[in-house]
Amino acid sequence: MLVEKNVPLQGCNTFGIAARAHTLVRVQAAQDIHALLAEPLLAQQPKFVLGGGSNIVLTGDVQPLVLKMEIKGRRLLAETDQAWIIEAGAGECWHDLVQWTLQQGWPGLENLALIPGTVGAAPVQNIGAYGIELQDRFHSLCAIDLGSGSAFELDAAQCAFGYRDSVFKHSAPRPDAGQPRGLGLAGRAAITHVRLRLPKAWRPELGYLDLERKRQESGSPQPSAQQIFQWVCELRRAKLPDPAVLGNAGSFFKNPTVTPEQCRDIIARDPKVVHYPLADGRIKLAAGWLIDACGWKGKRVGHAGVYERQALVLVNRGTPEDSVTGGEVMTLARAIQTSVYERFGIRLEPEPVVV
Ligand code: EPU
Repeated sequence: MLVEKNVPLQGCNTFGIAARAHTLVRVQAAQDIHALLAEPLLAQQPKFVLGGGSNIVLTGDVQPLVLKMEIKGRRLLAETDQAWIIEAGAGECWHDLVQWTLQQGWPGLENLALIPGTVGAAPVQNIGAYGIELQDRFHSLCAIDLGSGSAFELDAAQCAFGYRDSVFKHSAPRPDAGQPRGLGLAGRAAITHVRLRLPKAWRPELGYLDLERKRQESGSPQPSAQQIFQWVCELRRAKLPDPAVLGNAGSFFKNPTVTPEQCRDIIARDPKVVHYPLADGRIKLAAGWLIDACGWKGKRVGHAGVYERQALVLVNRGTPEDSVTGGEVMTLARAIQTSVYERFGIRLEPEPVVV
């Protein structure tokens, strides 16, 4: 185990924010965590688990001990009549895993193509796109308790998945629910492996309007998983900035939900508001539309900007030598929240983890 000091993190977060880790350990196998916990000085420090850094905003140097998850490996764990169960190390690139499963002839992850980040981070925020969320393909995960060093497994119910949410995003017990939802694991556990269940009875998931449009343009009634993968890649490339070219952390806010009464009230004032009814009776609003309607596209605060093609994405308009700061990003985010609240009465909730 190599303990590195004063490590630059600019290349380890997709925003490209310049910050440093006071202490960083690269975790390439579960044994690295056990070795770390055997060192009393390291064991007692607060810890921050870092994956691909695609969903974080660094507002300063990171004082907790950074565990950079680099566990590799992917395999078919089991095959039944119904499904393929695959397992991947937390440090694998998510998009590479999607591509690999399709190459093997195991469809099911195609709608989740090109999502930046690592496999280990996928359950943390229950990644989702084009009508599929990780929880729809999730089997279980392996993790290590950073206090005791003991390994444990969680199934989907124990992960308490929600919209861009899981037990790994919460650090304190939540008053609204009992175990295991109340069992916040943020900073207390490191995910080492993720297992996914890909049903053999595959059906294309084309419920998302943009994908349905692609299908109509192509004229193919039953597109293959590979075809959907291509469409999703095209859609994402057209709408979302490539973090390798323009720093960003994907959608910066969650899409809010409102009651039908609140929605009627907003429609009365703004008939064009983009809204989708949910199964539970509430209405989901498009945060990107709300921000766009407030005139934020292309606006800047210092080096933090609102992306011109998708107002939900905040971007780094600086250079590697003079990059955006986490403070600038959060100042811009707060200004957006204030204007959306003043115009629509809706509080937008940030999506990335602010460190
Ligand atoms: N819209 C605007 N102006 C904008 C942005 C969006 O009018 O500046 C409108 C669009 O025209 C569309 C609606 O808002 O009618 C929704 O936009 P879009 O289809 O781009 O999806 P989204 O709701 O903004 C969500 C996810 C994305 C995911 C896409 C596709 C969240 C917070 N974001 O975006 O996830 O890729 O749907 O499924 O749920 C991410 O989490 O980082 C992410 C990129």
